[in-house]
Amino acid sequence: EKGGYDYFMLKEIAEQPKAVADTLLGRIDPSGSLTLDEVRISPSELREIDKVVIVACGTAFHAGLIAKYAIEHWTRIPCEVELASEFRYRDPILDGRSLVIAISQSGETMDTLMALRHAREQGSKVLAICNTNGSTIPRESDAVLYTHAGPEVAVASTKAFLTQLVACYLVALYLGQVRGTKWGDEIQAVIRDLSRISEEVERVLETMEPVRALARTLATKNTVLFLGRHVGYPVALEGALKLKELAYMHAEGFAAGELKHGPIALIEEDVPVVVVVPSPRGRSVLHDKIVSNIQEIRARGARTIVIAEEGDEAVVPYADHLIRVPVTPTLLQPLVATVPLQVFACELATARGNEVDQPRNLAKSVTVE
Ligand code: M6R
Repeated sequence: EKGGYDYFMLKEIAEQPKAVADTLLGRIDPSGSLTLDEVRISPSELREIDKVVIVACGTAFHAGLIAKYAIEHWTRIPCEVELASEFRYRDPILDGRSLVIAISQSGETMDTLMALRHAREQGSKVLAICNTNGSTIPRESDAVLYTHAGPEVAVASTKAFLTQLVACYLVALYLGQVRGTKWGDEIQAVIRDLSRISEEVERVLETMEPVRALARTLATKNTVLFLGRHVGYPVALEGALKLKELAYMHAEGFAAGELKHGPIALIEEDVPVVVVVPSPRGRSVLHDKIVSNIQEIRARGARTIVIAEEGDEAVVPYADHLIRVPVTPTLLQPLVATVPLQVFACELATARGNEVDQPRNLAKSVTVE
């Protein structure tokens, strides 16, 4: 059942190219337009929407944070992302023109379910992004876009996360298509790149041995910090969550722009800091800013572990360890940049003698509040 792998998590990490491809299958037609028949919310209703609110927990919440960048950039609809457990307790402002997206691998997470019930009571339409056919969250939603990751057994979510991202990109692009916003060359290029992204994920997986070797050298560390900005920020949060869950290490993700507002005080000799570097193309300002962050933390003795696009030479002088990811459009980078962080956490857990598939105190699906 583990297909020759020691752990389900390793198997599920390896299945990601297929999971991503399966989630795209049949949803982009050859002309580059999207067919999301499952989204049973009519185009006219979608055109009326004035706000998107995403609710989710844990890793699914991180997918939502990334989705916000894509939805706002491609559709110009304001998008909020909120932890489902916080959402309904603060009397959120919702009405019939709000589209609520509930993201859940299991479809049974109690907090997410209660959040969507609350949203429907306010008259909002709810679209579920879910991996489990017929589970409660899609059953109680107005529409569902299934991720096709296949069963995810390991408690730590990996392939479900990548497919949640794909589903979020599809929804964002579909909203753009229906509403006619920004439907030009940039979008067509993104759709082409998205169709090919599964091969890029495969290429990342082929280069993971140095990441494993690096993880083994860090097994006795107490803390690992993660920095990113733009869509790299939620990737940093996800990298830190994986490490907490699996390696039981203190790990924290920060927005790199926040460094000087506090976190830089944590930087001391030999602390491993993983930095997710945005592409030097596109938003190059962000790239340059993060390169100076890497210089700053390295000058204070941090051990820099840099995830950067192939061909990005500016980071080389400041990277103690360099992990390369393929060139992708900025908004799609999380699909390739998260993979090394999953491998890193899995290997660290193994090196520390932890149970990879069943981390202590955790359940695969949290059906209580
Ligand atoms: O089934 P869900 O996607 O609703 O689960 C949400 C979280 O409980 C889940 O992502 C959790 O954070 C994972 N263990 C992360 O690896």
